[in-house]
Formats: sequence, C-alpha cells, structure tokens
Amino acid sequence: MFNQGLSLDQAPPISVPFRFFLSAPLFGVLISLVFFFSPFDEISNQYSHLAIGVIHLFTLGILSMIIFGAMQQMMPVLAGAILKKPRLFANIVHPSLVLGTLSMSFSFIFEIKILLHIGVLFLTISFLTFFSLSIKLLFKVEFLTSTVKAMRLFSLAGFITLILGLYLAIAHISSNIGEQHYVFVNMHILFALFGFALLIIMGVSFQVIPMFYVALDFPKFVQNKIPLILFFLLLLSSLIFYFKVDFLVLKILFVSLIMTFSFYALKSLNHRRRPVFDVTLWYWKFSLSALGLSMIIWLFNIFESNYILAIVFAFGFLYSLLQGMAYKIIPFLSWFHLNSKGYFKLPTIREFIEERYIKLHFFFHILSLVFFVAAYFVNSFIYMASFLFLVSNIIFFINILTAIRKYSKIANTDPMDLSSFK
Ligand code: HEM
Repeated sequence: MFNQGLSLDQAPPISVPFRFFLSAPLFGVLISLVFFFSPFDEISNQYSHLAIGVIHLFTLGILSMIIFGAMQQMMPVLAGAILKKPRLFANIVHPSLVLGTLSMSFSFIFEIKILLHIGVLFLTISFLTFFSLSIKLLFKVEFLTSTVKAMRLFSLAGFITLILGLYLAIAHISSNIGEQHYVFVNMHILFALFGFALLIIMGVSFQVIPMFYVALDFPKFVQNKIPLILFFLLLLSSLIFYFKVDFLVLKILFVSLIMTFSFYALKSLNHRRRPVFDVTLWYWKFSLSALGLSMIIWLFNIFESNYILAIVFAFGFLYSLLQGMAYKIIPFLSWFHLNSKGYFKLPTIREFIEERYIKLHFFFHILSLVFFVAAYFVNSFIYMASFLFLVSNIIFFINILTAIRKYSKIANTDPMDLSSFK
C-alpha cells in the first residue's frame, strides 16, 4: 500500500475520512424510512420523482460519501497525490455534500422545487471542489500504477457525471424536459454507475485485494486495459445514445468486461496465499457475485421493470462492497494512525470492531436484500425489507462509532502511558 516509501504522515487527519464514513449509514436510515412510507408502485418506478429522490439518497449520501471519504485517504497513500489543506478540503466537501444530497433528494421526494435550486448549488460546490482538486493532483502523479490510472479515469467520469446531472437538474428546474432528455438521463446513469462508481472500485481493488487479503494480483490485462476500455465505451455510448443507434453490441461489451473483472476479483479472493478467515471477505464475495448477477439481469432484461436490477446492483453489489471496505479501512487507519503517533501498546487491527457485530450486520444486510427482492412479487414485503434495512444501517453506524471511540479514547492519552490501553 505504501508504495514509494509513503507513509501515513502524508495522509489527512483521521477525522477527515471518519466524518464521511459515519454519515453514510445515516442516509441508509433515511432510505429505509422513505421505502417504508412510500407506495411501492411509485418507489419501484424508475421514472417517478420519488425514485429519483431515493436513488440520490443512495448514490450521493452513501456511495459518493464513502468514496469521497476514502479517496482523501487513498490519494496520498496509494497514489502519492497529497492534499495540501485536508481539513479545509473536507470542511467544504462534506457539509456541502450532506446539504446538497438532502436538498436535491427531498426536492424530488416531496416535490418542492426551491430545494432543487439549493441542492444544485451545494452539490456543485462539493463535486467541483472534490473533482477539480483530484483531477489536478492525480494528473501530476509520475509513478503510474494501474490504481492511479483508474483513479484518473474515475475523476474524469465523476466530473462528467456532475455536468450531466446539472444539465438534468436544470431541465427540471426550468420544467424544460425536451425530446432529448432521456438521452442525457441514460448518459448520466452510465457515467455515474460504470464510470464514477465502478472505475474507482476496480482501481482500488487492484491494490487492496492483493494487499489486505494476501491474494493473487489481477492479470495485467485486467488492470491496465479494462478500465481504459470501459471509459472509452462510455464515451462511445454517448454517441450511440445521441444518434439513437442500437445499444445491444455495446451492452454485451460492457457486460463482458465487467464480468471479467468480477471473475478475476473472485478468483483472487478464492486463491489467497494466506487463507485466514476474515469476515469482510463475506461482503466482498457477496458483492462481486451480485455484480455478476446484476449484469445477467441487465443483459437479458429478465424483469419487466428495473427495480430488481437496481436493488441487486445498488444494495447487493455497491453497498456490500462499501461496507466490506469500510470494515477493512476503519480499523486499519485507527491502528496505523495511533501506531505512527508512537502508541506502542495497541489493540490489534481486528479488535477495533468486534467480528460478531460485523457478522450481525452482514446477516441483517442480506436479509433486507432478500425482502427487497421478494417485495417485487409480494409488495407488502417492502415493510419488512425497510425495517431490516433500518436495523442493518443502525448496526453499521454503531460499529463505525465503536471503532472511532476506541481510537479517540487511546488518542486522548499520553503515548508513553501504558495504562491507556485496557
Ligand atoms: C452530482 C450531482 C448530481 C446531480 C445534480 C444529479 C441529477 C440527476 C437528475 C436531475 C436526475 C433525474 C433525471 C430524470 O429522470 O429526469 C438524475 C438521475 C439519476 N442519477 Fe443523478 N445526479 C447527480 C449525481 C449522481 C451520481 C453521483 C450518481 C451515481 C453514482 C447518480 C445516479 C443517477 C441515476 C442512477 C439516475 C436515474 C434515476 C432514475 O432513472 O430514476 N447521479 N440525476
């Protein structure tokens, strides 16, 4: 992880990523409430305002939140791209992301247009600050690993996602939904999910899976070519959508590339050099399998509506992976920051969050997914799904908080005082 002799000295203070991680499950709680109190027909209809609102509670409040938090730590450590004023940066990006997400999502959920103006303003501040700086820093990096290259593509895709999102939001503000509107919606969705979300997950996996799990490296082709081809296909899709050419060939290419990535990621996790049990592997393996499954559902249009596809991709693939990653990163950072401050009597990395609570969380997460999917067939299951999702997010929140409190308790003592660790 610490290539080129880098250390956590160059990483931001731990409070920077922690505030992002801690906010994500709170948005999960909001999502569960929206699902609970909304008519199923409406929330499962991709084109309804309610669905747009809830999708952004997830994609901005959880996905972007964890990605932005983790990237502030990973850019210096994995890429050598150092943020000069990390606290100021986080003080701009975090509150504006929270306010922007709440305003934009609530404007769609409760149909309050003025909130969309506020949402657009804050999301622009958050995304522009994050991406203008990350593009600037990442394109200056000289030592180019496959992770750095994927991070660069991710930052470009994130910027394009913002521009497309703004275009769509302004169309809603001015009630000017023209003929081409859904061309831009489709471009926004593809850049958001396959560019913004998938490219960073790939880039980070290339380094984190072999490192954290002492697992096989990905083949060079997967590391160096797949993110690049994916990005190229995204650009090509824009033309295909614009000129209304049949998307099928591109769809097959997208699915093949993404399935190849998930196959090699699973292969690497199943062939670890030191196969010790680690509960976060459950999250990773489940997530990558859900990614494969979602690609099959998408390719063959298995269901009439995109509801199940959205559940499997967003909660099954993305959220499972983000949770597994958070459970790996948070204890690791806590331990490493304390260690580098000179505390030498420390809990082990695994002791920051008890394994049985991570397992409990996994159980509720999976059960909520089963009910979300079942709700497609028997709508009333949505109440059970929302309740389980609520519990799952509360456990996630408590688990993160526990690690942070353990960290703070030790950090507030004198490193030389051995009684600090009990
Ligand atoms: C940064 C600011 C963003 C803004 C202003 C924005 C705005 C919008 C708007 C206005 C729509 C509705 C389009 C319509 O159907 O009329 C939309 C759809 C969508 N956005 Fe965003 N978006 C942003 C970021 C993101 C991100 C980061 C993601 C995911 C990573 C995302 C994923 C989606 C998806 C999946 C849809 C389709 C929703 C549906 O079909 O119901 N957006 N976005």
